[in-house]
Amino acid sequence: METQLFAPYTLGKIELANRIAMAPLTRCRAIHQNTPNDWMVEYYAQRASAGLIITEGTSPSPNGLGYKNIPGMFNQAHVDTWGKVCEAVHQKEGKIFLQMMHTGRTSHSNNLPEGAEVVGASPVALEGQISTYDLGRQPYPIPRPMTTEEVQSCVQEFVESAVKCVEAGFDGVEIHSAHGYLPNQFISPHSNQRSDQYGGSNEKRCRFVLEVAQQMLDLIGKERVGIRISPFSYGDGETDLDTIAQTYSYLCKELDKMGIVYIHLSNMGEMTEHRRKLWDDIRQIYTGTLILCGDYTKETAIEALDKNQGDMIAFGRDYIGNPDLVERLKHNYPLTERNRETWYTDNEVGYTDYSFYEV
Ligand SMILES: Cc1cc2nc3c(=O)[nH]c(=O)nc-3n(C[C@H](O)[C@H](O)[C@H](O)COP(=O)(O)O)c2cc1C
Repeated sequence: METQLFAPYTLGKIELANRIAMAPLTRCRAIHQNTPNDWMVEYYAQRASAGLIITEGTSPSPNGLGYKNIPGMFNQAHVDTWGKVCEAVHQKEGKIFLQMMHTGRTSHSNNLPEGAEVVGASPVALEGQISTYDLGRQPYPIPRPMTTEEVQSCVQEFVESAVKCVEAGFDGVEIHSAHGYLPNQFISPHSNQRSDQYGGSNEKRCRFVLEVAQQMLDLIGKERVGIRISPFSYGDGETDLDTIAQTYSYLCKELDKMGIVYIHLSNMGEMTEHRRKLWDDIRQIYTGTLILCGDYTKETAIEALDKNQGDMIAFGRDYIGNPDLVERLKHNYPLTERNRETWYTDNEVGYTDYSFYEV
């Protein structure tokens, strides 16, 4: 059977050159005021042969800029500079969605601009440490819980940012509801201990992200909004397995009713039996495009498509060192070795200097 991996695919109203996505990758190169620059234009343009590029996590709000040098999408400079990225990718016939990431409690005040604060669903700190601009590594702080009105304003920040994405020329937006960032902090009963309409039952814990999604869809169109989730990742804390499965089944059912253009499933670590089962259940529950990510190789990607486990496969780490990943996979050219040392630095080394394979 001919593999579909390299065949064109229709996502909503756009035509993708293949079923390979570049997974969102935070690279910390927005070194001046969290604003994209020429390095970023070049980096994304180099990777335009991916069927779909999903950008690095980008904040819709000053409060969501919890990591060093990550980009934002909430002012005119962001629109203008992200616009250059979109233009460069489109010139090469690529397609690009912005990943909208609010760090919430995964943050530190030293990383935030003046006036911004570390906020979350509830005053529960994440375990571990975060790298800061001036203070080295610091424990994660206890976030200030948002009032109900602030939660609603935060929904508006996501929605307004999505409108800016369309203005900049993005083909769409991916809501980052995975890996323990703000929407995931609302979904998980571990980090969400609220007693208003945004906490408690599965329905209430999912309300924040569902409001974000519905309002975005209403404003920019359902073909332009996707979402990333990572059931059973560290974002779910100590939650019991049944609760996680029930919560995400409910969420995906609602997203299906809404007609969101894709769900992007992220797995980190071992693909355990209960994860596999939930992914298979989600495949049944949700009828739109399903993107799968986490440790795929060419062979396992082809196998997953053949078994109809998903519609597209996203590659993360291999996209860092292989701008021409599609060609390399297609022709079985060797892949560049991964080098973690340069993943999050603040210069061009290990960013725009990876070469295309020469035959
Ligand atoms: C350097 C680096 C940065 C990442 N940044 C993000 C991010 O901004 N948003 C996100 O959803 N996932 C992020 N991830 C996770 C990747 O999107 C992907 O899920 C992970 O690398 C697993 O896919 P892979 O096995 O193909 O690398 C990041 C991963 C790495 C290695």
